[in-house]
Amino acid sequence: MDVFKIQGGTSLCGTVAVSGSKNAALPMMAAALLTDGKTILNNVPDLVDVRTLSSLLTSLGCEMTRHANGSLSLEVVDESHSEADYELVRKMRASVCVMGPLLARRGHARVSLPGGCNIGHRPIDIHLRGFAALGAQIDIHQGDIILQATQLRGADIDLAGPNGSTVTGTCNLLTAAVLAQGKSRLTSAAMEPEVVALADLLNEMGAKISGQGTPTLEVEGVAELSPTTQTVIPDRIEAATLMIASAMTRGKLTIQNVNPLHLSAVTTVLQEIGVSIHESGVSQLEIACERELSPVNITALPYPGIPTDIQAQLTALLCTLPGRSVIRDQVFPDRFMHCAELNRMNAKIRQQGDRALITGVAQLQGAHVMASDLRASAALVLAALAARDETVIHRIYHLDRGYEALETKLNLLGANVTRCREEDAQRRSPSERTNLRRSA
Ligand code: EPZ
Repeated sequence: MDVFKIQGGTSLCGTVAVSGSKNAALPMMAAALLTDGKTILNNVPDLVDVRTLSSLLTSLGCEMTRHANGSLSLEVVDESHSEADYELVRKMRASVCVMGPLLARRGHARVSLPGGCNIGHRPIDIHLRGFAALGAQIDIHQGDIILQATQLRGADIDLAGPNGSTVTGTCNLLTAAVLAQGKSRLTSAAMEPEVVALADLLNEMGAKISGQGTPTLEVEGVAELSPTTQTVIPDRIEAATLMIASAMTRGKLTIQNVNPLHLSAVTTVLQEIGVSIHESGVSQLEIACERELSPVNITALPYPGIPTDIQAQLTALLCTLPGRSVIRDQVFPDRFMHCAELNRMNAKIRQQGDRALITGVAQLQGAHVMASDLRASAALVLAALAARDETVIHRIYHLDRGYEALETKLNLLGANVTRCREEDAQRRSPSERTNLRRSA
């Protein structure tokens, strides 16, 4: 297993381009199952999660080619299999996004029920309720969900859950409803840009969806869809992570390939903290720290609120600001595993229910820490960039699932991040030996 060794303390400066969005690319790739012919997606990030879904789609009869320019072409050549293997679903729960397309196009899907998750309780009851409303028969057998329908029929489906709407659930039901007979009305639908991107792709394929970006989606079912070419939107979570990296290291970054509209909640809160953010040119933001930053109270909410996927990174930032901050997560109320690791770096965070109570410290301190999920890993990287001395982050395979070439991008901005094997990291560096002597 690989680890990151990060020597903290340098301000990040320069220009960096954001990759295509992982969470937009995954359901868009699955939507290729709905058509004959070649779907081409541009700006697909090269990530472990994209490769995992590629393996799953290949096992479902889809031929995939990745081109040097970041495009992916997908073409269904065999529709005889509709089973998503446990090994792949276990690796990545977003694999459930093949349920809608398989059911709509092949009339059958067998997908392993996803298991536990480090970011909290993640049922898929709303997806299943929606498929049932569209007329699918649903059975659970030996840990697999079996969905069947000869012809889906349009229906009214409410997608509200205890913590807001469901992003992947909205994608799943959209991809099923587009080929259903008649009209569907999805209420309390997720408004995330990734859902809008999927709806736009489906409409390019010939679907009739309206209302994307609002809580009510109207879908007029069509008999068939045709393949098309579409570009994946920029990754707003990667962009926000880089914005926070700039703030935490008191650096100065130009971040390219962003959609500022998708980032408005993050921009507003960073500006409230005191970070200076300006749009410059097309799809470009300038981030700088020209004054003292101050603490803030934040709640992560469904879009257009502050994303839960940036909660851990904001927590890392708030740890370095003088005074008290509170951060709540209303989407995944248990998503706080990063806090104990940040405390190992001298942070002062107390978790209380769905919130973290943070007292800022003058300086974070490098340590050996363990990544527990993708965004928790990003939070540890940010903390390490701002910390004194060296931090070793274990289990960075989580990062490889969702950030394309992160260490290359950070190093080009002046960071000192080295990827090495776990065994090599066990040997203590000179700075760590000095720290141990100091604290002895
Ligand atoms: C998507 O997950 C993202 N993943 C997550 O990003 C993101 O954190 C999440 O949306 C929220 O924005 C992908 O897009 C691949 P949800 P998803 O269904 O769709 C509850 C990352 O780091 N719920 O919108 O699986 C659920 O428990 C990942 O990139 C139900 O109760 O999340 C949660 O509290 C992590 N029943 C809330 O809804 C359901 O049937 C939102 O979950 C479905 C969800």
